[in-house]
Amino acid sequence: MPFAGRHVVLGVSGGIACYKSCTLARQLTEDGAVVDVVLTASAAEFVRPVTFEALTGRPVLTSLWERDRALAHIGLAKQTDLAILAPATANVLARAAMGMADDLLTALLLARSGPVLAAPAMNDAMYAHPATRANMKTLAARGWQFIGPEIGPLAEGPSDRPGRMSEPDTILAAAARLLVTGGGGGGRLAGKTVVVTAGPTREHLDPVRVLTNPSSGRMGYALAAAAYARGAEVLLVTGPTELPLPLGVTAHRVETTAEMQRAVQALVKKAHVLIMAAAPADYRPATSAATKRPRRNGTLTLELEATPDILATLERPQPCVVVGFALEAGGDGVAKARQKLQDKALDFVILNDALEPGAGFEVATNRVTIIGKAGAPIELPLLSKRDVADKILDAVERALT
Ligand code: CTP
Repeated sequence: MPFAGRHVVLGVSGGIACYKSCTLARQLTEDGAVVDVVLTASAAEFVRPVTFEALTGRPVLTSLWERDRALAHIGLAKQTDLAILAPATANVLARAAMGMADDLLTALLLARSGPVLAAPAMNDAMYAHPATRANMKTLAARGWQFIGPEIGPLAEGPSDRPGRMSEPDTILAAAARLLVTGGGGGGRLAGKTVVVTAGPTREHLDPVRVLTNPSSGRMGYALAAAAYARGAEVLLVTGPTELPLPLGVTAHRVETTAEMQRAVQALVKKAHVLIMAAAPADYRPATSAATKRPRRNGTLTLELEATPDILATLERPQPCVVVGFALEAGGDGVAKARQKLQDKALDFVILNDALEPGAGFEVATNRVTIIGKAGAPIELPLLSKRDVADKILDAVERALT
């Protein structure tokens, strides 16, 4: 994960969205970051410092006047890899834009030259006010990045205008990318276009019945999120899944294998990397009824025909690192996967064992072996799908250079 071993300062200003900052502090800490929380006086009215201390395992700073901590704001401004301001109220944005330093948080922000990610949260009219717009413009011109606000219910009721703070997962995804890119469009996959496919496809027997498989799409979505965090432009071709779209990716939703093939073939023209993590249906009914087939007693025999093999038939107008997955069930998986690598002209094949506990479909973890055209296979331990995604992208990056 991009947060492991990184030092993050989480500035919390006083809005009701503070409760989400607790989740943020906890998640960053769980992901391996050292998190120092700085609360404004009004934030401390919403959530007591002890809550953040328990979540981060570190002292929380609230005032410029704490004994022995007189220069804490300077240390935190300079030594941290990233400052996240969540929630960023209209008031704190105004004070930061003015260059005021009348409390610990604004003093820290004024002393800081490294990246700042702010997640505004306020009443929709306050957000729309020209003063707030001007303040955000000023801060953006100084290199601050913003995530949200979003349209959704506010403390005072429903709203159809932006004001609600982004969810912690969204803020974390933006923070992960900012940590890698430094806000300057860097990152190891900066300037690269990565096409990722994910999820199952569905083939209709009739309007209400489908042939499909239990792929959840999690591996592909984790790859898309990880590639985005490394600075890539990510185009996600996704079959039907329940998953929320990862931040920053452009999604192309498809249903059938033929639709996925058309989307991949169109997008690969501008791709530097194609990762086929989807589990497209290999067969479809030879005929699909236009109306619902009535139930009849006795057996039903279906005639199936093969769907297109997307990888095997892929036309590659320019060099592109192509990664396929091989789901094998026992036997000599590595030999079968190597055969797939050759048959489908892949640069890498990611071998999953369908029979392995904790690996494959519908689980949050995976255990894979990365097999390249040359070199020994890289056998990975059981990892979260996000960590597997990062290992796969490490291999892809080596192939790109
Ligand atoms: N794939 C594809 N087009 C299909 C089916 C699969 O491009 N119609 C891709 C998958 O996304 C995966 C790779 O091919 O990256 C391997 O899929 P897998 O189902 O393991 O292999 P198959 O080639 O279908 O072979 P088999 O089912 O015989 O093992």
